[in-house]
Amino acid sequence: MRQEITQTREPLLRRMWRSMQRDPLPPRDDRGRMRLVMNSLVLHLHPSKVAKPTLRFTYTFGLGGLSLLLGGVLGVTGVLLLFAYTPSPEAAYNSMLTLQTRVWYGQLIRNLHHWSANLLLVVVVLHMLRVFFTGGFRTPREFNWLLGIALLLLVVAANFTGYLLPWDQLAYWAITVGTSLLSYIPLAGEVISRLLLGGPEVGAATLTNFYALHIAVIPLLMAGIASFHLWRVRKDTLTVPRRADEPPPERVEKVTTIPHLISREVVFALVMLALLIGWSALVNAPLEEAANPSHSPNPAKAAWYFLGLQELLLHFHPFFAAIVIPGLGLTALAVLPYLESDMDVAGVWFRSKRGRWLAAFSTLIGVAAAVGLVLLDEFVLDLPALLPFLPTIISNGWVPFAALLLAIIGYGEFLKLLGARACEVRQALFVLLFAGFITLTAIGIFFRGPGMALVLPRGVLS
Ligand code: HEM
Repeated sequence: MRQEITQTREPLLRRMWRSMQRDPLPPRDDRGRMRLVMNSLVLHLHPSKVAKPTLRFTYTFGLGGLSLLLGGVLGVTGVLLLFAYTPSPEAAYNSMLTLQTRVWYGQLIRNLHHWSANLLLVVVVLHMLRVFFTGGFRTPREFNWLLGIALLLLVVAANFTGYLLPWDQLAYWAITVGTSLLSYIPLAGEVISRLLLGGPEVGAATLTNFYALHIAVIPLLMAGIASFHLWRVRKDTLTVPRRADEPPPERVEKVTTIPHLISREVVFALVMLALLIGWSALVNAPLEEAANPSHSPNPAKAAWYFLGLQELLLHFHPFFAAIVIPGLGLTALAVLPYLESDMDVAGVWFRSKRGRWLAAFSTLIGVAAAVGLVLLDEFVLDLPALLPFLPTIISNGWVPFAALLLAIIGYGEFLKLLGARACEVRQALFVLLFAGFITLTAIGIFFRGPGMALVLPRGVLS
């Protein structure tokens, strides 16, 4: 009886707060209980203790956590954008204008969404590089590497489908160029392209398809796979960093997640959020004039992250540029952790001292080779003209592809002759190809002008 009377006298808000907990504690110390709830939430995401060396910022650079933070910003701003956006060719562009000029903080929300999406792509790739260069994908983390690749592809897909939604010239033609790559997939290319576009070309059905993929399908898949990824990080724990001359640690000092890890995460997240909001307040997301399907801009470029592939298309037969080379690249990336069993290098930056030098050397070779080969193909060598008796899939496909493959294998053998170990050679080849691809992307962004001819960037000329 007395208990009932105390409960009814209890303020309503306090009773509501108490009812949220499954096992209510005495109602006096609310702050203490709030901390308890927060702490148990944190300990669902993190283990209760973590290895002290993994807290060093210069080991992870907070890149995985930053990816998560950007995913959160994209989720929140994306939901807000839904209130103003209409997914039809007649209304989409105007809804962007209205959002930017008549909705409170509409421009800022659009900017935050746009810059977070682009930054996420860069950050996820940097995170992948960090994991690769520290051997963070070695047993038992191989499967988590695969989950990571799935996340990377989803981030690209989310960026790509979102690109079309403003329905301006940039969006319309970048998606037209990007989706044209699909038609080169043998046998199924036409069907896949039609399914995605909802017809023979980019139009109203494409916008509906991209909208559904962008706001529902891709985010759901990402949330599911990211949760799995994080759960595996929690279970497998982070690879412990060490110097090349140190053996794998048998015992490492551990510290409690609260406050050691969590305080670092909160500070880092707040600083990053402040920078992101500052940048988005100053720099607007691009919006060109409304899409005009009958007027193609010159040059018509794909989105920046596909410009490496578009550059490859200028030099190789499309079947090789759009399918064989990216397909082989992705397959090699996926099987990488399963090949690395020759030496225990988990936690060692660049595998070894020699690995570090070889990686730096291979970066230079990769950049120089990409620039040299682009110039050679542009101004000197015309393989289809030299070999007119062969079909172009051979003269401009098999022939340059085989030559490139031989050069890569030759480079690997050369490094072995210099005494490099297998894992150092694999790392050097990875760096060579990655640096080459980034160089092609940079050429596509800065050095391609009207008619996709090579030009100097505007800033350099003026
Ligand atoms: C949306 C994308 C992603 C998110 C949110 C994410 C999140 C995270 C987080 C929070 C960690 C813990 C430590 C750290 O910050 O490095 C981590 C570790 C890891 N991630 Fe990711 N990640 C993503 C994409 C990727 C990609 C693209 C790969 C590789 C292809 C990858 C492979 C791994 C591996 C193997 C680990 C364990 C590393 C170690 O033990 O050293 N992740 N990830």
